[in-house]
Amino acid sequence: MTVTTHTRAPWSQLRLRQSAHMRDLLAETTFSVAQLIQPLFFVEGLNGTEPIPGMGKSNLRFGEAALLERIARDLDAGVRHFMLFGVPSTKRLHDLRFDHVRRVVAAIKGRFGDALHLWADICLCSSTEHGHCAILDDGGHIDLGRSLEALAAMALEAAEAGVDGVSPSDMMDGRTAFLRAALDDAGHQHVPIMSYSTKFASKFYGPFREAAGSAPQFGDRRHYQIDVRSRRDAIASSVRCASEGADLLMVKPGMTSIDLILPIAEATGRAVGAYQVSGEYAGLLALAEKGLVDLDAALLETWNVFRRAGAAYLITYGARDARALGLGA
Ligand code: PBG
Repeated sequence: MTVTTHTRAPWSQLRLRQSAHMRDLLAETTFSVAQLIQPLFFVEGLNGTEPIPGMGKSNLRFGEAALLERIARDLDAGVRHFMLFGVPSTKRLHDLRFDHVRRVVAAIKGRFGDALHLWADICLCSSTEHGHCAILDDGGHIDLGRSLEALAAMALEAAEAGVDGVSPSDMMDGRTAFLRAALDDAGHQHVPIMSYSTKFASKFYGPFREAAGSAPQFGDRRHYQIDVRSRRDAIASSVRCASEGADLLMVKPGMTSIDLILPIAEATGRAVGAYQVSGEYAGLLALAEKGLVDLDAALLETWNVFRRAGAAYLITYGARDARALGLGA
């Protein structure tokens, strides 16, 4: 399409937009597969895979062998970063165990080594019988001391197995400082913490909770996740994580936190990423299945918006499709 200007204009927006060469010349956001992180769900004891309702054909619950095969294909597709969620075969109220995390991290790093960069999500909700992200006392209140100890135990299992980074998503008070100290004391000073530092109580985690077997059996997570109405709390929460030693910060859900990325980056000087969560991804997939949007184009649009908004990196269930969408390495 060529543009005919009917009025004399010293400066024309249409002239600047009329060709792909001009649009690419002036594009202010670019990114590559190197800035995308692919989530993975490992289910202890599972043979093969299980689908996750609403999440499409490649985002599945994986047993160990199937997970390793999936990662091999993802690496072929150019993915370098992964976020691992480990789901244990049994749930408990206390004395949580995380040896499944150690085993699967060791298996992944043992096979792929430094060809990938592996982050482990650190949270208790897949391990507790009630599905909350904390250990509760007999009165049903958060037992902060025991919760922090359990989170640290999980992070240490991952670190000892050779994980490249840990990512606490529990939203307990002081967990970043507690994990940093636990890692340092055990000689894991080099393991970075990517904190889910601004994480809202959200309805967009629905498909994930099926995948991680982590839906709360009573109540909800508003006692510990951030209220979407509170901008002050949202920024303060990231500032606090940064001051406690978080190396990387994150907003979540990403698409509904777009306004917070830059303020957090400016307030902390840290890299701030965005997690395009399960419900956001499943929403695009549902539109595509109805023939209402082109999934690839829609995903790419959202990722560009994240970058425009200042996101340093993205966690997205579409990372493994990025190269097929034309993204470079
Ligand atoms: C664990 C955790 C959740 C997500 C990441 N880590 C769920 C929750 O807090 O309920 C959500 C990710 C997604 O929806 O894709 N606490």
